[in-house]
Amino acid sequence: MAPFYKRFAENVTQQVNLLHDRAEGECIHRDDLMQMVGDAVTVSTLDALCGPHLLRLNPDFLHDFWVFDRNLQTYLQGIPWLLAPMAYMARKRVLKAVQIWQQHARDNFDDSAIGPDGDDPFWGTSFFRERHDMFLEMDGFDHEAIASEDFGAIWASRNSITAAFWAIFEVYRDPKLLASVRSELEPCIQKDDNGHIHFDINHLLRLPILQAVYAETLRLRMHFYIVRMPDRVDINIRDWIIPRRKVIVALTTVAHMDATAWDTGANNEHRVDQFWAGRFLRYPAGQRTDRSGVEKQTSDATSPTAPTFSTKHVDGAWIPYGGGPRQCPGRHFAKRQILLTTALFVTLFDCDMLGGAENMGEDFSLKGFGGGVSHPVGKVPVRMYARGVSG
Ligand code: HEM
Repeated sequence: MAPFYKRFAENVTQQVNLLHDRAEGECIHRDDLMQMVGDAVTVSTLDALCGPHLLRLNPDFLHDFWVFDRNLQTYLQGIPWLLAPMAYMARKRVLKAVQIWQQHARDNFDDSAIGPDGDDPFWGTSFFRERHDMFLEMDGFDHEAIASEDFGAIWASRNSITAAFWAIFEVYRDPKLLASVRSELEPCIQKDDNGHIHFDINHLLRLPILQAVYAETLRLRMHFYIVRMPDRVDINIRDWIIPRRKVIVALTTVAHMDATAWDTGANNEHRVDQFWAGRFLRYPAGQRTDRSGVEKQTSDATSPTAPTFSTKHVDGAWIPYGGGPRQCPGRHFAKRQILLTTALFVTLFDCDMLGGAENMGEDFSLKGFGGGVSHPVGKVPVRMYARGVSG
């Protein structure tokens, strides 16, 4: 997946830098931070994943993608067409868009289009190209069925997009955490000849506080039903038997909100329903964290007094990606995507949230809950100011 990561990183870095150029000298006013982050990240993700033709041939795809996403429960509950025509039309259009893209790829691709990294501009990643051939060999798979399967894989990337929004939101609304994340990022900033900044993703993967923000965001915001059905033998989990051919459903939220499994601070001051990056940070003996989990932070992540990031101590309690052989295949990309997008926004912009939006909650309505990383209950209006950054 390395070429895919690289394409995404270059694309999103360019988009956020251009946004910064436009904001220089005047602030940007947006009525929704979620949409601002989503616009930059969704285009970069879809281009990296599917190549440029999906969006070029279907200019309304982005809009329909999010309408589909907001209506997941409509489809799952089997609400009749008549009562939700817009939702069903959006689903029809996204599936049609994938079919148009794949027809274009079938018509125009030949082996000479494959680059040295194995990907090509028509199918995007070799993942889609190769599984297309595999599906065609299966009995009963036609182009329409393949488009549905592939839209499922494309749609699954929505989790890292909404998670990037929440991570940025949490960092901006806590000035102490913002200062710590920025001081951690400062030594990692590189600049190109146009004065645009970029980050080496491998550096970001070593930063404890940024990773703690990522992990805590997924703990708090990921609400998903993990579904399993043992097909051949009964499963025994600590003497609880799940008989074969019976379905079991486990909700990530239950594990993520188990107060007996999670560190809630020395005096229980960090309730499990609140954001606290310190849950994933370990400090050298004798030191403790503050409200944002970052009091003892030093900008040098290799310093002996720097905290370390870990999810080991919460194995089995932190399950945003599910587990076992069906665990999310996009998790390595998702982590890189969230870290990089957060790093770019908080480095390049200051942000004022307007009208009390810093207290925005999650959409826990039946329409919103259980489909993955949550949406905010309303829009988050912001004023963004370009920061001067030295590289
Ligand atoms: C923060 C981001 C993400 C989270 C929290 C997440 C979470 C999950 C979860 C819980 C599952 C079900 C796993 C299970 O049943 O054990 C899943 C499946 C899946 N995810 Fe993700 N995901 C994320 C990002 C992505 C991205 C970016 C992609 C693609 C680029 C992706 C592609 C998939 C696919 C294709 C499946 C279905 C796998 C299967 O059925 O075998 N995910 N994800």
